[in-house]
Amino acid sequence: MSVQLSRGEAWDLLTEWVQSESLRRHCLAVEASMRAYARRGGEDEELWGVVGLLHDMDYERHPDLDTGHPRVALAELEGRDIDPVVVRAIASHADFLGVSRDSQLEKTLYAVDELSGFILACAYVRPEGIHGLTPKSVKKKLKQPSFAAAVNRDEVRAGAEELGVDFDEHVAFVIAALEDRADELGLHGRDADSAPASAG
Ligand SMILES: [Fe+2]
Repeated sequence: MSVQLSRGEAWDLLTEWVQSESLRRHCLAVEASMRAYARRGGEDEELWGVVGLLHDMDYERHPDLDTGHPRVALAELEGRDIDPVVVRAIASHADFLGVSRDSQLEKTLYAVDELSGFILACAYVRPEGIHGLTPKSVKKKLKQPSFAAAVNRDEVRAGAEELGVDFDEHVAFVIAALEDRADELGLHGRDADSAPASAG
């Protein structure tokens, strides 16, 4: 029997490996999107959430994509005998490892990863935060290469295509998932207390 991590155990593991507030927030955002899609599809919300939380757990310690992330995370999780479904999903979000995305879980992780990060970036520059953010304005920002330049636009598009969802609906769905957790993610905008709630 492999090990099923609870949400609390996954969070403890993430915060042991990741000190950066912004990387923790990214992982929380991906978790929120994964849980929302799991709920919608009648899938295992806890499992999908754990995959979202842990998909970048080794990125702070091992950012080198040629030798590090996500290989170190995969080895760590395998060493702990974590559910292979979790390990394979995390492997499949890194294009360069060549692990195919077969399941809905794997396709969803890829589809929400870069997009969740991008939507956080959009919300942080708006006075209203995430409130009232539309797919139209997200798409406009996607067309500005200098905005959140680290986000791979091709991956954002390809992710939605692989998942087989309408792009606008997908963006609206992820916005709603993140807005649900606006307190924790610090997405209420500049009018509100702008300091994001402590993730720990
Ligand atoms: Fe990520």
